[in-house]
Amino acid sequence: MMVHVELGERSYPIYVDTNGLPRLNDYLGRHHLVDRLYIITDENVRSLYGETMLRSLRDAGRGADLLSVPAGEGSKSFEQLNWLYTQLLEKGADRGSIIIALGGGVVGDLAGFVAATFMRGIRFVQAPTTVLAQVDSSVGGKVGINHALGKNLIGAFHQPQFVLIDARTLATLPEREVRAGCVEILKYGYIADRDFFQQIAANLTALFALESTIIESALRTSCSIKADVVSRDERESGLRATLNFGHTIGHAIEAATNYKVYLHGEAVLYGMQAALYLSHRAGTLTKRLLDESVALFRQFKAPRLPDLDECALLAAMQKDKKRSARGQQWVLLHDIGRAYLTREVKEEWVREAIAFMKS
Ligand code: NAD
Ligand code: GLY
Repeated sequence: MMVHVELGERSYPIYVDTNGLPRLNDYLGRHHLVDRLYIITDENVRSLYGETMLRSLRDAGRGADLLSVPAGEGSKSFEQLNWLYTQLLEKGADRGSIIIALGGGVVGDLAGFVAATFMRGIRFVQAPTTVLAQVDSSVGGKVGINHALGKNLIGAFHQPQFVLIDARTLATLPEREVRAGCVEILKYGYIADRDFFQQIAANLTALFALESTIIESALRTSCSIKADVVSRDERESGLRATLNFGHTIGHAIEAATNYKVYLHGEAVLYGMQAALYLSHRAGTLTKRLLDESVALFRQFKAPRLPDLDECALLAAMQKDKKRSARGQQWVLLHDIGRAYLTREVKEEWVREAIAFMKS
């Protein structure tokens, strides 16, 4: 099954192919990617899939190397970036070389940024292995690293040659990571597709259990929605910002807790709860949809929020807001499947939304 990302000469396919990873070399051949390969991964994924991938590429006669960074957000750093550049240079990488980003969103963002900048940009392939990476970060070309003053502040748009999604890799993912990644799946339903939302909401247990029919269909539809949005607004001048539904407060929760307490998807889940409250407060969403969503969110079993300090959250949001010349933009809903962007949200409503989210 293939989803197409239409971006003119930078268009590419997303292959949703369960057990496709062992066939990576065939996919590379199909795309005429015959030069030397550098697989970039993290230490967890290296032992799970990286070494097998390296062996099978070498067995197929390909020149390939495997480079791994420590697992975790800390690797989206100047230090790891510099280490990777050095490794590539020492191993003789050149403008024709190809990077394979094998891992979660951390690896995809870091390896993608290496590809965007090494020798002014080389080709790369996304082989995502977390739910979050398979439905979100591997698609759309946003790559980058963190700065001491904030997350994702240094980066580029650099589209991959193709994305290869193998749902089998999710079997080794911790359950909490699976559930957190599924928040982004639900997000696509909220912003763009009511039927998809209903299908996911009715099958959450099967989705968390990674039952093949439901996870494959969820991966496919999520990627189709993201591909459509990215095709229409690659550089986020408008529509693409709707993908940030739940992220305004979600990011603030992550920042206020030093990225140590909540997984990204868990913070976004609470952020979506707040955004739904704001949609209701703004008069565009019914109370029934708000209440039904809150009941649905409980099934994700995210850690509770009660101790989170409102001032710390507002300060984190203020910091984000300062980075945007035109002030805080919110993604709210008219209905499930119909998102809109607005700056017309009163601070008083935000305080109420925070209290609602914590209740
Ligand atoms: P991650 O990459 O840190 O992966 C989570 C954990 O799972 C890590 O410990 C990793 O080693 C492990 N792991 C990965 N695949 C595994 C597997 N198959 N089996 C067992 N363990 C596995 O985190 P993530 O949630 O995938 O990504 C988060 C990152 O994505 C953040 O840095 C965020 O900023 C970024 N992101 C980027 C975009 C974008 O558009 N570029 C979008 C959303 C998020
Ligand atoms: N994750 C948001 C985006 O890709 O735009």
